Amino acid sequence: MQFKKIAEDVQNLVKTHHEWMDTTLNMIASENITSPAVRKVIASDFSHRYAEGEPRDRLYQGCKYIDEVELIAINLAKKLFDAEHVNVKPVSGAVANLALFTALTKPGDTIMALSVPSGAHISTAKFGAAGVRGLNVESIPFNQKGMTVDVDGMIKKIRDIKPKLILFGGSIFLFPHPVKEARTVADEIGAYVGYDAAHVFGLIAGKQFQDPLREGADAISSSRHKTFPGPQGGLILCKQNLAKKIDNAVFPGLVSNHHLHHIAGLAITLAEMLEFGEAYAKQIIKNAKTLAEELHNSGLNVLCADKGFTASHQVVIDVLKNGGGGQIAKTLEEANIIVNKNLLPWDSIDHAKNPSGIRLGVQELTRLGMKEGEMAKVAELIKRIVLDKENPLKVRSEVIKFRQNFKKVHYCFDSALEAYRYAELKLG
Ligand SMILES: Cc1ncc(COP(=O)(O)O)c(C=O)c1O
Repeated sequence: MQFKKIAEDVQNLVKTHHEWMDTTLNMIASENITSPAVRKVIASDFSHRYAEGEPRDRLYQGCKYIDEVELIAINLAKKLFDAEHVNVKPVSGAVANLALFTALTKPGDTIMALSVPSGAHISTAKFGAAGVRGLNVESIPFNQKGMTVDVDGMIKKIRDIKPKLILFGGSIFLFPHPVKEARTVADEIGAYVGYDAAHVFGLIAGKQFQDPLREGADAISSSRHKTFPGPQGGLILCKQNLAKKIDNAVFPGLVSNHHLHHIAGLAITLAEMLEFGEAYAKQIIKNAKTLAEELHNSGLNVLCADKGFTASHQVVIDVLKNGGGGQIAKTLEEANIIVNKNLLPWDSIDHAKNPSGIRLGVQELTRLGMKEGEMAKVAELIKRIVLDKENPLKVRSEVIKFRQNFKKVHYCFDSALEAYRYAELKLG
């Protein structure tokens, strides 16, 4: 009865969700929280409107202010990523990938991407968006121990199968990918090099990961809401010679209206990242390394100890011996520690429901102001559940108390106005 009453009341459920999230340590590597200024504009009238077409050349009236906001977002993104061309219209990272496939390949072509157990997102798999485009997908050879691409294997395979597109990036992304090496071979066979930056986009913005455009990528597809802490959506950066193809693939190809409230939020997030991105990304990497080391020292099987565990926001742990990723993720949730189960490269894809791994991301905790000292505490809480098998409900009360000290979003402006003033200054 009580449940039925609550279930009928969406507002109550949203409120309860908020209250719960405020007491959790959320370490889903693909999520983040937006700043108060971004939250304000995404709840604006922009969410009711349509703006098909390009800024100042729309199919709809009523867009004069929307046009200016979209232009601010495009110009800030060009500046932040030193990109020749930017398309902010894809409504998600998967749509951004589909737009790359539409622009750069034809049905029946072969592309290369990581396999799903090696870390690829489903949108680059045969059973995802790549398959929807009718592409054959060949795996980029992967070095399981080092958790990155097997460069020699990749070069040989590119020469052997001559793909139309080599697409780097993935949902498990601990170390940079060999864009430079692929560029050289891609030029021999006339292939495109793409880079799905969804997970590491905020680290690239903060100049703490690789720089795919300078290393030779033709285009970057991305989400805007993982390490890059914007409202949900996608985006493409590319060289000028591909601009028309990519723009046409996005609109009118795949997107009609592009969720204008999120474009307003994106503009603010881009300003935040121009000003605070470097400090934020540096702290993320310090936090991830510290968390990994603490978990490793406590006896957990954190991957890639010999390589410093990680160069990104992610920490990956093999918990097969501790009960498997599915079970561990559920138990941690009982303690308000939110992580996700994950396939590891040696898992069969049929084991997706209880794979060997869990994946942790520290970007959201970093945004809440946590530093290395707090990472040691987080590691201790995880260890007590996974290794010591302490009652998660007992640990939960400690998590709730600990989280009370971290309520405010950091690395952002106090208001949308402040962000727009900053943007104005930056764009001249
Ligand atoms: C590497 C990668 N690419 C693309 C996507 C899809 O992004 P979206 O959820 O915005 O469609 C994800 C999602 O997690 C991802 O991890």
